[in-house]
Amino acid sequence: MRKGLTLGLTVLLSAATLLAQPRGTTLVVDDKAEGIPIQPTMYGIFLEDINFAADGGLYAEKICNRSFEYDNPLQGWKTFGKVEVLSEGGPFDRNPHYVRLRYPGHPARQCGLENGGWLGIGLEAGAEYRLSFWARTAGKPRTVGLLAALCDPYGSAENQVLGAEEVTVTSSKWTKYEVVLKADRTVAKGAFRLLLWDESQEAVVDLEHVSLFPSDTFHGDENGLRKDLAQALADLHPGILRFPGGCIVEGTSLDNRYQWKNTVGPVENRPININRWNYGTFERMFPDYYQSGGLGFYEYFRLAEEIGAEPVPIVSCGMACQFQNDPEWHPNCSLEDLGTYIQDALDLIEFANGSPKSKWGKVRAEMGHPEPFGLKYLGIGNEQWGAEFIERFEPFMKAVRAKYPDIQIVGTSGPYLGGEWFDDLWKEMRRLGVDLVDEHYYSWEGFYEKNANRYDSYPRTGPKVFAGEYACHGSDGKKFNHFNAALLEASFMTGLERNADVVVMSSYAPTFAHVEGWQWRPDLIWFDNLRVMRSCSYYVQQLYAANKGSRVIPLTIDGKPVADVRNLNATCAVDDATGDLIVKIANLSPYSQVVTFDLPGGLTGAERTALHSDNPMDENTLDEPSRVVPVTEQLDLTPVADPANEWLLGVRHQENGRIAYSERLGGRTFAVYRFHTK
Ligand code: AHR
Repeated sequence: MRKGLTLGLTVLLSAATLLAQPRGTTLVVDDKAEGIPIQPTMYGIFLEDINFAADGGLYAEKICNRSFEYDNPLQGWKTFGKVEVLSEGGPFDRNPHYVRLRYPGHPARQCGLENGGWLGIGLEAGAEYRLSFWARTAGKPRTVGLLAALCDPYGSAENQVLGAEEVTVTSSKWTKYEVVLKADRTVAKGAFRLLLWDESQEAVVDLEHVSLFPSDTFHGDENGLRKDLAQALADLHPGILRFPGGCIVEGTSLDNRYQWKNTVGPVENRPININRWNYGTFERMFPDYYQSGGLGFYEYFRLAEEIGAEPVPIVSCGMACQFQNDPEWHPNCSLEDLGTYIQDALDLIEFANGSPKSKWGKVRAEMGHPEPFGLKYLGIGNEQWGAEFIERFEPFMKAVRAKYPDIQIVGTSGPYLGGEWFDDLWKEMRRLGVDLVDEHYYSWEGFYEKNANRYDSYPRTGPKVFAGEYACHGSDGKKFNHFNAALLEASFMTGLERNADVVVMSSYAPTFAHVEGWQWRPDLIWFDNLRVMRSCSYYVQQLYAANKGSRVIPLTIDGKPVADVRNLNATCAVDDATGDLIVKIANLSPYSQVVTFDLPGGLTGAERTALHSDNPMDENTLDEPSRVVPVTEQLDLTPVADPANEWLLGVRHQENGRIAYSERLGGRTFAVYRFHTK
């Protein structure tokens, strides 16, 4: 070929290539790059018993103060007739209180107890409820009759009773009794009643650990979880489950820190603990908010296993909540006493991973799980800071490393997203060589809008980041789960994924909130006694986790990462199992814009799942849980009719064998594209 002709052809081809792009922004997917592995732990769940997340929420127990152990032993109960609280001779040494019912003094009077749960008991028509309690006869008659009933105490129907069963107590020795109750209608704020139902005026009966569970729990566990709420967790496809918090790890004072040993073994003998969120603020106080310990460490490990997540327990480092304590009050353990806290952590690892012959492995095995839970991570302290933290953290960490060198240690950068404490803590975490640093950032919209590049400049060596608590809080005190907050989280999270060599774990926080019982918002999942609502932020988390991919590869506009370029933030991953190229992109502009993905040729199909609302303040509610949900569409990959027409959207084949796929990406939209290469 003559030189002039070659040149002419090249010019023509370049013009054609130029014309083969529609107007708009081109994002180039570098599918040949090796990329950076995305850890399976990348997107996970933070669980803390805040907002009635556990007791009164995920934990399916319906009775508040079932063991009569609150500071006021009858808190949560209404009593009628002759009811006494006793504490000598009960069946459970760590929960000594029980109640005694006796003849009320007149045949037309009643004696008994009523419990309305925490914020009412949700009961569903046709559903079965497993009542259990411990009882003994305590008077002359050898048997005593009781009547158990599901009720609607605030309803106006002729009959308050939804379902009832008689139970006869037949022994003067403490015995467990069980009966199934069935509700004939649905009530959101029902109650449970247990009445002395005996003709004898000498009937006396003692009752302890009165418990009511739906028969249908998550995975059918007896000491189980509310199915709809646990399913919402499973549907997040979490890589990790962090528990039990949060501030409740620390306690308002050390004596009410979370002590995992109090949450294992027979459920009847687990001591209760006042919840730090009971009295979180004067404006929203919940005096009956205690932790029953029923959803304890065994149940957390089991839940992690059931939903396919790595367990990430966080333990107290001997410091009570620093926000709630002045150092002059000496709220922390002495350095001499630190050994107790360290031992608790070492025992926890043995509980999770030890052989059934070991002391704590045996406890696990006796609870029904002889196989180890395979614990790999341990967080020491929650949001701690200052010299008093480091002087406790350092020996703590060294002791864990010495005994369990394979356990990855999670340290902390404190409660703030930057600043002096943050910098100092990061320096210390590096010096000490922790494996991961737990960063927390509850911040306003501007932070999430402008910080998708937060991790671009982090050192590539040293501890990895666990973005352990974050959520976009509205400015001007508007803290709720509006669509715009979710969009900004999605946009910010492109930066987590692009930096998968630095960030290896993340979890939005908090996860659950009862609509009437919250202390903190926004939250990922809202519920009442019967219903659940997945927020817009929930769908963002779900989209990320369900489309995580194995490696992040370069995605560029004009050779640069897509971080705050023309209101776009984006990232691209490869799923090695399927060969899919997964682009996650947030268009923060209120206006739509044309985007072109420069992709390898030979695609076999593609789809786009988008989360969008025209109204940034839109939100899902319990009444309208599907206002803003992801919508999936198959993409049409047939080539455009006239590739030279820059106005046409769709697929164009490039002369280099690649394709350009163009479409109009809606304003204020988060979209996940899956391009199939196989
Ligand atoms: O997620 C709510 C609280 O925020 C957590 O308990 C605490 O760690 C943080 O301050």
